[in-house]
Amino acid sequence: MNQAKKVSNQGLPLISLRNACFSWPNGKRVLDKCSFSISNAGLWMIVGINGSGKSTLFKLLNGMLKLESGFFSCKLKPSLMFQNPDHQLLMPSCRSDLMLNLPRSLNNYERHRSIQKALYQVRMQDMESRPIHTLSGGQKQRLALAGALTSGANLLLLDEPTALLDPSCQQSVLEIVQQLTRKPSNPITALWITHRLEELQYSDGAAIMDSGRVGPFLSGKELFDQLKPLAGR
Ligand SMILES: Nc1ncnc2c1ncn2[C@@H]1O[C@H](COP(=O)(O)OP(=O)(O)OP(=O)(O)O)[C@@H](O)[C@H]1O
Ligand SMILES: [Mg+2]
Repeated sequence: MNQAKKVSNQGLPLISLRNACFSWPNGKRVLDKCSFSISNAGLWMIVGINGSGKSTLFKLLNGMLKLESGFFSCKLKPSLMFQNPDHQLLMPSCRSDLMLNLPRSLNNYERHRSIQKALYQVRMQDMESRPIHTLSGGQKQRLALAGALTSGANLLLLDEPTALLDPSCQQSVLEIVQQLTRKPSNPITALWITHRLEELQYSDGAAIMDSGRVGPFLSGKELFDQLKPLAGR
């Protein structure tokens, strides 16, 4: 039975989880009285060992799964991005793929503008009619990002988005997401899972997921300094 409480989220942080519990049907406990909140737009990172529950947490935040108990509120519209963009790009060209995500209420002019704006934001403004199979891995990941933007999402849940990218593509995806979180109007909130400790320096705050819990959020540098000596052991 789903005992998660539903109450008005007015006055709450952007994302709030309190005493959240979740287990898979086989009994595997993934969240165990997990509490954390995010109050401001920004680039927030989560690190944790394999199997610690990061991807499951994102499915809960995205509404694909429900808590079994505890409290969850989210004021933002989420969009999930995976490690491999081939898992979420469905159409033959950049334009047709972005078309899929657009709200149905838009007229033709608004659709065109929305696609152009999103491609500009991910630095792919001249690639509207490019076949998707001709894009590099980094460009595909940026197109997936553009898809999230055209859908109107303002919470990006990025599940190791740079794991398959080389350092220069990794850098450009990091910079674009960081820029989106710092826009003067309507900045987005990004939650970014990483196993690459060097990415923590780009974050506005970073936390460890362990034993079914997240947090506390520290500065990226603080968490880097804490974890670096353990890496490679
Ligand atoms: N659909 C599922 N059914 C049952 N158990 C699952 C399912 N998905 C994940 N799990 C289990 O939940 C636990 C957490 O998995 P999850 O994928 O969330 O971890 P993760 O931190 O994202 O790991 P990684 O760093 O390897 O991506 C694991 O024990 C996993 O086997
Ligand atoms: Mg995972």
